Amino acid sequence: MESIIKQSKYLSKTIDDFRNFIKNTNNKEKVSVLSILDKTLSIVNSSIVNNNITIVTCFEDDGIIDGYENQLIQAIINIINNAKDALNENTKDKYIFMETKKDKDTLSLSIRDNAGGIPDGIIEKIFEPYFTTKHQSIGTGIGLSITHQIITKHHDAVVSVHNETYKYNNEEFTGANFEIIFRTI
Ligand SMILES: Nc1ncnc2c1ncn2[C@@H]1O[C@H](COP(=O)(O)OP(=O)(O)OP(=O)(O)O)[C@@H](O)[C@H]1O
Ligand SMILES: [Mg+2]
Repeated sequence: MESIIKQSKYLSKTIDDFRNFIKNTNNKEKVSVLSILDKTLSIVNSSIVNNNITIVTCFEDDGIIDGYENQLIQAIINIINNAKDALNENTKDKYIFMETKKDKDTLSLSIRDNAGGIPDGIIEKIFEPYFTTKHQSIGTGIGLSITHQIITKHHDAVVSVHNETYKYNNEEFTGANFEIIFRTI
């Protein structure tokens, strides 16, 4: 019973999150990056948990930006979903690390996984529309092109990617690191 109640409450919250997500799609407003991250994580949470992925967050800094909240949530979900796909290929302990850092008039968000990274030779193509390495039943290759469009065309921001090798809990990991740099107001 306890578990059923807990799960129903969770489902009900997920429905609320989605309802808010669909609402007011096209108003640029002053939004906090942390509140966007909060909403994003509540939307992806169940799929992250189901896939045995641990998300480690370090959100020390927040910043207010002028943006379309729902678009930004979508842009970040696309990056997280790719990390999930990559981690599900053959990573044992699956992690996604998310971090914010403030500078004078920017706030950067990094989303890093430990799935091994993106092969040289394709890394410069991943933001192109319809570029995919996945089977057509899984991917169409539009996720990152939408992210790129949202970040660079609809917001005064940039998105880039590089592979990184880093340490976490004394273990060495390699993975893709997507970085978004927002202009704060
Ligand atoms: N975190 C990652 N690790 C390894 N490869 C990645 C990662 N993120 C993206 N890629 C590569 O970039 C490609 C393009 O990603 P994109 O999100 O645009 O399309 P997709 O995931 O293949 O399909 P869709 O998002 O439309 O379902 C992926 O097919 C994958 O090869
Ligand atoms: Mg994708």
